[in-house]
Amino acid sequence: MTDSPTHEPTGSPTSERTSVSERIDLAALPHDFLWGTATSAYQIEGAVAEDGRSPSIWDTFSHTPGKTDNGDHGDMACDHYHRWREDVSLMKALGTNAYRLSVAWPRVVPGGDGAVNAKGLAFYDELIDGLLEAGITPSVTLYHWDLPQALQDRGGWPERETAEHFAAYASVVAERLGDRVTHWTTLNEPLCSAWIGHLEGKMAPGLTDLTAAVRASYHLLLGHGMAAQAIRAACPDAEVGIVNNLSTVHAASDRPEDTAAARRMDGHTNRWWLDPVHGRGFPADMREVYGVELPERAGDLATIAQPLDWLGLNYYFPATVADDPSGPAPYARSVRRLGVPRTGMDWEIDADGIETLLLRLTNEYGARRLYVTENGSSYPDVVRPDGTVDDPERQDYLVGHLAACASAARKGAPLAGYFAWSLLDNFEWAYGYDKRFGLVHVDYRSQVRTIKGTGHAYADIVRSHRGRASRAA
Ligand code: IFM
Repeated sequence: MTDSPTHEPTGSPTSERTSVSERIDLAALPHDFLWGTATSAYQIEGAVAEDGRSPSIWDTFSHTPGKTDNGDHGDMACDHYHRWREDVSLMKALGTNAYRLSVAWPRVVPGGDGAVNAKGLAFYDELIDGLLEAGITPSVTLYHWDLPQALQDRGGWPERETAEHFAAYASVVAERLGDRVTHWTTLNEPLCSAWIGHLEGKMAPGLTDLTAAVRASYHLLLGHGMAAQAIRAACPDAEVGIVNNLSTVHAASDRPEDTAAARRMDGHTNRWWLDPVHGRGFPADMREVYGVELPERAGDLATIAQPLDWLGLNYYFPATVADDPSGPAPYARSVRRLGVPRTGMDWEIDADGIETLLLRLTNEYGARRLYVTENGSSYPDVVRPDGTVDDPERQDYLVGHLAACASAARKGAPLAGYFAWSLLDNFEWAYGYDKRFGLVHVDYRSQVRTIKGTGHAYADIVRSHRGRASRAA
């Protein structure tokens, strides 16, 4: 283990600090609002072959030549497995009171099913204790894309048994951590696992097969429902949710073909993931678009539609699409809007989208509690000679999106927390390490961490909200 240096947030001058938090209607947010940061296991932990962890599909994918930029992989990542104490001290320095982490299935049940790895569980056990000692509420995600390779070798998510094994693994983790963790997420962004991993081939397991993708989507949601039941059985106080990455979708023109394409893209991105968990089944129009028979069994839809304590929204960018009859499902291609600001990922910036989606989840889906479980931006940061990292564009993105969140709350969205993506720069999947999303810069050679300007701004916002809440109490 490394020592835990203290990271004092130096912050910005008072006048600047005031103006940053003044752009956000902090009074619209509840007093017990969760101010968090988020990460995921494969993106930060490293130690891929330590203490009994087995390979996941992301180890396989990232070590396959040509799959990731620069051939980057998660072997070392942020070495969080050894440096987690320092990382908890960073969370404290930011003043955050919540942390969203994911548990690596291949650390806990290396074969995917069967034997439990005591050392893998012990890692998360200690981390949870460390967070609680620091006054930080843990929010635990059970699946953030790192399927044990052993299960992929048996067919992976297109097979029903993967959902069953997921529930068994969820039960193991909930039994161990459920005395201290109440906030549970089954799946993170199942859209990426199914569509990007099985249809577009740009993420693990790297397939381009519509039937496999649709079957994977079905079993992911079935696994969500089964895992929700397993978590509640192990931990009656559990508050269970699912995290989806949603986008607002706009038609590129008024042509009926383009508006129909936008409707299909909305089905593909949003409704396919939201409708079944809300008891509405899989959208009929999209079943027709995919033309793939679902592997349905009696009772599955009820399992998928377990009551949710909350919904998580990951929001990054909107989509503008045009009809694309000869392209892949959903036969809608993204259209680049000119003259709009973009992040270093080349993603369009549209803070209004987060407000629209929070209100849609409230009004259309009746969400009783919402969290923004991820939101953030990547820019090519540099550490200046004086050791600081100045990232005004990321700060603008953060403040703009927080202002939109507060506006949604003011209009009635039951928003209970915001988790910035990400605590640390980390392994950005197929983009490798060049894309930096952290509030904290990581020098991957030395593993030195430096709080960026946006990290200081976030700390100021959290402090302002807390000050306001305690004055009101
Ligand atoms: O890094 C990812 C994260 O793993 C899932 N949501 C989007 C982030 C940025 O691309």
